[in-house]
Amino acid sequence: MAKAKSSEIIVGLDIGTTKIACIVGEVTEDGVDIIGIGTSPSKGMRRGNVVNIDATVSSIRQAVDEAENMAGCEISSVYAAISGPNVRGINNNGIVAIKDKEIRANDVARVLEQAKAVAIPMDREVLHVLPQQYLVDDQDGIRDPLGMAGVRLEAKVHIVTSLVSSVQNVIRCANRCNLQVSDIVLESLAASQACLEDDEKELGVALVDIGGGTCDIMVYADGAIVHTSVIELGGERVTNDIATLLRTPLESAEKLKRKYGCAWRELVETGEMMEVPSVGGRGARTMPRHKLVEVIEPRVEEIFEYVKKDLIRCGYYDALAAGVVLTGGATVMEGVTEIAEQVLAVPTRRAAPSKIGGLVDVVRSPSYSTGVGLVMFGAEQGRSVQLPARGEDRPGMFKRAWRSLAEMF
Ligand SMILES: Nc1ncnc2c1ncn2[C@@H]1O[C@H](COP(=O)(O)OP(=O)(O)OP(=O)(O)O)[C@@H](O)[C@H]1O
Ligand SMILES: [Mg+2]
Repeated sequence: MAKAKSSEIIVGLDIGTTKIACIVGEVTEDGVDIIGIGTSPSKGMRRGNVVNIDATVSSIRQAVDEAENMAGCEISSVYAAISGPNVRGINNNGIVAIKDKEIRANDVARVLEQAKAVAIPMDREVLHVLPQQYLVDDQDGIRDPLGMAGVRLEAKVHIVTSLVSSVQNVIRCANRCNLQVSDIVLESLAASQACLEDDEKELGVALVDIGGGTCDIMVYADGAIVHTSVIELGGERVTNDIATLLRTPLESAEKLKRKYGCAWRELVETGEMMEVPSVGGRGARTMPRHKLVEVIEPRVEEIFEYVKKDLIRCGYYDALAAGVVLTGGATVMEGVTEIAEQVLAVPTRRAAPSKIGGLVDVVRSPSYSTGVGLVMFGAEQGRSVQLPARGEDRPGMFKRAWRSLAEMF
């Protein structure tokens, strides 16, 4: 796999629905060291999409400034994440004839280009072309066809697209902060980089990243990505229900959720009490904790029911030998893994970023999987980020670089 040279700096910018995370990584001989992190509350996003440019720009600035201070460097270029209901994933294939009876790099590039040539509406653009496997003549299951003999090369790929306007809004926000965008990466692709083990990808696994506004799903079978989807549900919905049903302000609902929240009734002892602030200047009330859990459990259960439906619909539910890996801030709550396992009926674990060095303790939270994954993705692209002085007039630029063939394997 192509590795970047040492002392390169890669920056991941995760523009989430509830928080912006800017993660600075230094590429070393052994992998990636996290050297800076900045976060800020996300103000201009809704369900994974930018809905207010000014608010998003100021949130990004805050996170980037903080990350620059911690890392002691100036950031000019980032890998940015994208999600939202506009993201679509489809499987396709391409076939080309081999001229010299030996497969060379340009034959592989041609077959991937061919596989990418599906009818994509004018308002969409391709984010990723992810090779699944190659077939040379009649032999299938080939991961690297370079140098093989044959007359016919076929590639099976997973293509991820999004609305051009959604992509442009992310780039615009970054550019307004004087940041170039090296690449736009699907959130679940970045998160899988940080959370999944290779053997899980081989056996068959679904990554489920539940954030504030979206639940991102990515399925791997035989080491390749076979399905991606985004469900418009997340932790914000749970908070809203707590606020409505316990008649408490949104801010208090969020605090109660984080302090007393639990998604699995059986884990809560009867008799535990909590203080619930009221709205409209009324006095706070004391309530049993299980009242809160009775609100949370059905909401979280509902999210996993949608996830299960999606996994069954895509046809890979029975192929998940390694089960489901949960990540994202909404999976931090006690009992989420247990209820997921019960609803999904497959082995389930929760994951935070691993396989990194540096400020590991700071980023070891499911909320940072996408941000750290972006850095790991960038490091694997083998591209470096120069660090010129801030304030230069750098025109916005979006490089659609061809993915390295090794990306998937
Ligand atoms: N300790 C906790 N207990 C319960 N919920 C939590 C906890 N920590 C974070 N959350 C919830 O996680 C959600 C935010 O997760 P995350 O930071 O992954 O979202 P995001 O990346 O901003 O959003 P998205 O990926 O949907 O765009 C919020 O709804 C928050 O309430
Ligand atoms: Mg997220």
